[in-house]
Amino acid sequence: MAEESLKVWQRVLAHAKRLSDTSLRILFSQDLTRSVKFSRSLWDSKDEIYVDFSKQLIDDQVLDELLALAKDLQITEQFNEMRNGVKINWSEQQAVLHTALRADNKQTLIVDGVDVIAQVHTELDSLRKFANSIRTDKKFKKIVSIGIGGSDLGPALIFDALSPNYETAVECTFIGNIDAHEIESVLKKSDASETLFIVCSKSFNTVETLANAKIARSWLAEKLGVDRNDKTLADHFVVVSAHPERAIKAGVIAANSFNIWPWVGGRFSISSAMSLAPIIAFGPDVFDEFLAGMRAVDDHMQNSTPENNVPLILGLIDVWNFSVLGHTSQAFIPYAFQLRSLANYLQQLIMESNGKSVQVDGSATAMRTSPVVWGGVGTNAQHAFFQMLHQGTDVVPVEFIGFSQPVHEQHEAHDALIANMFAQSKALAFGRTIEEISLEQPSEKIINHRVMAGNRPSTTVLARVMTARTLGALIAMYEHRVFVQGVVFGINSFDQWGVELGKSLASELSNEISGSSVPSQTSAKDQPDGSTQRLIDLYRQHRKN
Ligand code: F6P
Repeated sequence: MAEESLKVWQRVLAHAKRLSDTSLRILFSQDLTRSVKFSRSLWDSKDEIYVDFSKQLIDDQVLDELLALAKDLQITEQFNEMRNGVKINWSEQQAVLHTALRADNKQTLIVDGVDVIAQVHTELDSLRKFANSIRTDKKFKKIVSIGIGGSDLGPALIFDALSPNYETAVECTFIGNIDAHEIESVLKKSDASETLFIVCSKSFNTVETLANAKIARSWLAEKLGVDRNDKTLADHFVVVSAHPERAIKAGVIAANSFNIWPWVGGRFSISSAMSLAPIIAFGPDVFDEFLAGMRAVDDHMQNSTPENNVPLILGLIDVWNFSVLGHTSQAFIPYAFQLRSLANYLQQLIMESNGKSVQVDGSATAMRTSPVVWGGVGTNAQHAFFQMLHQGTDVVPVEFIGFSQPVHEQHEAHDALIANMFAQSKALAFGRTIEEISLEQPSEKIINHRVMAGNRPSTTVLARVMTARTLGALIAMYEHRVFVQGVVFGINSFDQWGVELGKSLASELSNEISGSSVPSQTSAKDQPDGSTQRLIDLYRQHRKN
């Protein structure tokens, strides 16, 4: 950090010390306007997304100082640079342009001599045509989308989130893992003549995706009673990739293929052709609504004043929780069955982006960066791990997400669901003191077990109803929060070198396990490792018997 920002940072740290003696109980009693002061609405329209961060351990001075830090670090200016195509992914010399995927078609954005927004819209037109043809043909009743990481989690999230609300023209299943039990379980229940495989891989180098595509092709050939090279198979495959030529090389011959570009990171690709399965399932108009929601939040992030900028404020509070207060994990708990895939999606978005410890200049980061991100859905989570959230030794900041209007008619059940969400955030914040239970429980020993310290921070996001537009807005809000965190941490949120070593060792060990080669030289190879060798030997032995 530059000198001025460091000064602001020191002041932020001092506020943490100042607040160490206070509690959410005290803060709420001292300021009756707290819930108004520390909440914002993303929109005032019928799609309102209300964000209440008053149960975070902050006060006016903390928020002011965090916003001062944001101004000093020029976070919104840096966001604009990203949106304008500056190559902020410096370790890979790439622009970072997921925002261009939902930019208005009246705009132009020239990067390396090419209008990327025009490129995006040409592709969107082809996607629309293709999706409509599949929807009207009705030949395919099932889509199996094959991909992993960002080429899987985003489309799966959209499909799960919108299925209750929008009519689905085709059934969609998502396969990521190289564990073939997964694909086998799907193929077992599929009719080859009615199944369309969408193979999603930006790089088309990903072993899991290549292996699953190969299994799908063999299965299809066998079930249709044709040769593996028969041309009819191509009609059952679609490829989404920045390298369609590699798909052909890998033997994935598809009648249709769609592009994404090197400037879209895998975990930021939800607004690209990677989401083809839900685009077909719900129709291109619904996807347009989703993109409109994202675009509205892109504009909000770019144009709002810092004091009203929701992703900016939430990103700064994240930094406050992880890097200042030292909390090491963060839980996302939607009280919405539709968002059951959200925690998985956010795990990659946040941890793959900001799980770094080297700054832009190559030096070690001075502060704690990404937390462990996890979660589940309410109320199930209450009966699984909430005990630890309430009384465990670690404090875990929680994000609750709920919708006022359900997409079903079971209103009583919905009221109970949301009452539980509000109750949990209240219990976490205010706990229960010894005085509040002493009347009912005479023995001191027992009373102590029932005391809940409270003072456990949470944010509540309450949206009116789950629509495609709301979902798009929520996702863009999370994307930009990650950006804000990355700027404060001083890291590059857009590369993922940490995943590489494991990948290359896996490919070496695959050869060793299958006995097809001796291990080659990698950095970790020279490391004496009796453990792995014994595991390989035992595995081979098990396989023989
Ligand atoms: O896990 C590493 C990663 O590169 C992710 O960033 C990406 O989303 C995933 O693998 C899949 O990559 P691809 O789309 O190239 O198959």
